[in-house]
Amino acid sequence: ENKVKNAKLVLLGDVATGKSSIVLRFVKGQFVEFQESTIGAAFFSQTLALNDETVKFEIWDTAGQERYHSLAPMYYRGAAAAIIVYDITNPATFTRAKKWVQELQSQGNANTVMALAGNKADLVEARKVTAEEAQAYAVENGLFFMETSAKTAINVNEIFCEIAKRFLQA
Ligand code: GTP
Ligand code: MG
Repeated sequence: ENKVKNAKLVLLGDVATGKSSIVLRFVKGQFVEFQESTIGAAFFSQTLALNDETVKFEIWDTAGQERYHSLAPMYYRGAAAAIIVYDITNPATFTRAKKWVQELQSQGNANTVMALAGNKADLVEARKVTAEEAQAYAVENGLFFMETSAKTAINVNEIFCEIAKRFLQA
């Protein structure tokens, strides 16, 4: 019997880190160089089959611009999973990601599966945040970490798969 389990998932992170691009890659298998900045939030849904179970992700792709910060609780409240995204070429976005983790840990649901995504992993030459630093932070704070690239598709399906596995185990 293949049951479908719904999982509300929210993406949080600084402006232009690639939240919408990760979702576009996962849902449509596409990438665009000139992705428009999100206004408010955008909704997508995508199913993922794992062995004999299916997870239906209900995805809220939030806007990173600071003026939308106050809307975020509407999207992370009750979320089964969160992907907190930073850009490996921009240390300020890593700092912002840590603030999101703190906010989720203090205001969110204790059972939310949290993933830290170091996006734009294709831009190796411009890297400013090491994978070791991010991995250490993730371990200390109970998240799992992956570097992703919405552009080349590296680890995009993998991060959603890992979330689905953890969600189904919970
Ligand atoms: P807001 O909606 O404003 O919060 O931004 P966002 O986090 O949704 O970022 P978005 O997906 O709009 O991407 C911002 C820019 O980064 C776009 O020009 C994308 O093409 C580019 N981009 C996103 N992901 C990647 C990636 O993995 N590699 C590279 N090289 N560029 C990327
Ligand atoms: Mg966006």
